[in-house]
Amino acid sequence: MKFFIDTADVNEIRDLAATGLVDGVTTNPSLVAKTGKDFIATVREIAKIVPGPVSAEVTATDHATMLKEGHKLAKIAKNIAVKVPLTPDGLKTCKALSGDGIMVNVTLCFSAAQAILAAKAGAAFISPFVGRLDDIAADGMGLIREIVAIYKAYPGIRTEVLVASVRGPLHVVEAAKMGAHVATLPPSVLRQMFAHPLTDKGLAAFLADWKKTGQSILGAEDGAAKAAE
Ligand code: E4P
Repeated sequence: MKFFIDTADVNEIRDLAATGLVDGVTTNPSLVAKTGKDFIATVREIAKIVPGPVSAEVTATDHATMLKEGHKLAKIAKNIAVKVPLTPDGLKTCKALSGDGIMVNVTLCFSAAQAILAAKAGAAFISPFVGRLDDIAADGMGLIREIVAIYKAYPGIRTEVLVASVRGPLHVVEAAKMGAHVATLPPSVLRQMFAHPLTDKGLAAFLADWKKTGQSILGAEDGAAKAAE
């Protein structure tokens, strides 16, 4: 399963990319607004930090302008995925950009019917928003299960299921069990995934016992090698 980071915060991206666990980045207009920084410059910087797909979203709502914006965004770097909303104009734009060899991430997907349309439009990624569905007492993960099953039934579909609007590690685990291709995680969720109290407790006990031995792996001479001399 691939992990994308769902943020436009360059410092967070740099920090998490250093773990070697980040395969890409997703941004959206709200995340960009949060940074207060220039959109194009920020996307350019992110695309240099992370070699994998970096989603940058169009902000027009009509096909002709979306297409122009999409081409402009795609020119920023080779690893840009142009993000378009799941509207008739968005899917028309998806089809045109995909035809030009540009990766497209279709966003704001809330139904299996919409996901079928995105696949037909040649999307590289479909982004179903699980957290926002959970927020209205709908079944976010149920939607992922449905889309994964539908896409699997048609081996010709190349669109990857990108689980978005992730709220916690459990969403990621459930998505992995279902075989979703990608999850885009807020930085806090990726950090939460490392955490377990028994890991902390176990490590503290190992370190305390190690201290009692008075040894140091890097500082000590190799006893066996010395005896063989
Ligand atoms: C995905 O690409 C979106 O940026 C994101 O996952 C939206 O999540 P939210 O519902 O937490 O805003």
